[in-house]
Amino acid sequence: MKKEITGHTVLTALLGSPVSHSISPQMHNESFRMLGLDYVYLAFDISLDHLKTTIETLKHMQARGCNLTMPHKNLVCEYVDHLSPAAKLSHSVNTVVNDNGILTGHTTDGIGYMKAVEDAGHSIIGKKMTLLGAGGASSSVLVQAALDGVKEIDVFNRRGENFNKAQKLIDRLNQETGCHVSLYDLEDEKQLSDSIQESAILTNGTSVGMHPNEDGCLIKNLDVFRNDLIVSDLIYNPRETKLMRLAKERGSQTFNGLYMLLYQGAAAFELWTGHPMPVDHIKKRYFSE
Ligand code: ATR
Repeated sequence: MKKEITGHTVLTALLGSPVSHSISPQMHNESFRMLGLDYVYLAFDISLDHLKTTIETLKHMQARGCNLTMPHKNLVCEYVDHLSPAAKLSHSVNTVVNDNGILTGHTTDGIGYMKAVEDAGHSIIGKKMTLLGAGGASSSVLVQAALDGVKEIDVFNRRGENFNKAQKLIDRLNQETGCHVSLYDLEDEKQLSDSIQESAILTNGTSVGMHPNEDGCLIKNLDVFRNDLIVSDLIYNPRETKLMRLAKERGSQTFNGLYMLLYQGAAAFELWTGHPMPVDHIKKRYFSE
């Protein structure tokens, strides 16, 4: 079906810097086209200084909403009227929905990750997770996993700013969810091995192993990998990280961060349009490995 831009076409957008590499415009515009929805999705390279005016302007232009990527996910929390529970906990927003001038901030990154776990054929609800990293991406995963009913999460990070921030988030998660979350120093290798031993899934939420530093891997004790351990990476460049390769060689089941990207977009799409994204089609077209 050919899609024409009309006087009624509804605007959605990506705000970030940089944005030109993003696959989101293709993913959303192709989905609008497939479903015959009169929407368009455009990417704008916006500096932090201009975020506030851009959000205001999009509201006045009656845009349906926007996605936020680096470096805007935290700051945009100040410019919306409401935050979803997960966005409030993680102080991170990647999707804004405009309901007649009322802006609500959501974070769909963690939703995307939990859906990717399911897509890979696993269920981690009621089980234990070991999570490497307490930065932006890891925190989104942490919050959603805790909200969704993962039973216990051991988080490892280097001591520093993110470690201290994570402690506050973890205190809230322990108070407000049924999940038991603990924070450990990444240097504590004995604790790391013990935690993985008790976990159903090990997730790398750090940038270690990402292109161009593909030689990085935070796991030194390779004995932690077992047949019944799921090992996932939020990284998708390279498609197989060193962590995934080492784990796979020792029998663990692995998956990368590609479908987290797909499903965070699918969740945003549904928030804006009320329709599920045609994910099978989008997967084949843009996400085939
Ligand atoms: P993102 O938004 O992609 O999550 P981020 O918020 O900067 O990016 O988080 C990066 C994560 O990778 C952090 O947990 C960071 O650890 P620090 O808080 O100690 O910086 C982690 N990370 C990056 N390089 C690392 C390294 N060499 N060793 C261990 N952790 C590392």
